[in-house]
Amino acid sequence: MKTKSRLLALALLTSAALPVASAAEPDGDPRHRLGMTPAERVEFLAEMRQMLTSIQGIIAGIGTEDRERIAAAARYSGNRMARATPDSLRRRLPREFQEIGGPTHMLFEEIAIRAETDDMADLAVLTGQTMQQCLACHAMFRAD
Ligand code: HEC
Repeated sequence: MKTKSRLLALALLTSAALPVASAAEPDGDPRHRLGMTPAERVEFLAEMRQMLTSIQGIIAGIGTEDRERIAAAARYSGNRMARATPDSLRRRLPREFQEIGGPTHMLFEEIAIRAETDDMADLAVLTGQTMQQCLACHAMFRAD
């Protein structure tokens, strides 16, 4: 019995020292690589920072009940940005990525439209839901 539990402890120690992700990624990062060129990555990350700017504008607009500001900030990351993805890159992006990315831009369009009429509290809820998309994609992918 004593030997058995010692063996078990040893097995647990060994498996803890060898995380599963290390087999696939030398840096231990389990996120999926999108296979972007350096130039595509630069442009992609600039759009990401723009999405953060949109979120900032929306939240600031909700705080001051400034409907124009909310709509303008949201529209910037809406369909306009979805259309801006070059075809050469779009073709290579995995389906899972596109299934999160497309609806994210649609949610920004929805915020822009609902900014005209909805309560600020409802707009805050919708912004929180939109940010779930950011979290879901960031957990899965890396831009290199
Ligand atoms: C469909 C996927 C996807 C969605 C949706 C998404 N992102 Fe990203 N984002 C990425 C990836 C991939 C990276 C790069 C991560 C890495 O390589 O470590 C990134 C990086 C970023 C960065 C870092 C930019 C830099 O200069 O390094 C910011 C800021 C960011 N995202 C903001 C957002 C915000 C805000 C949202 C939601 C409104 C969002 N992202 C939604 C995929 C996504």
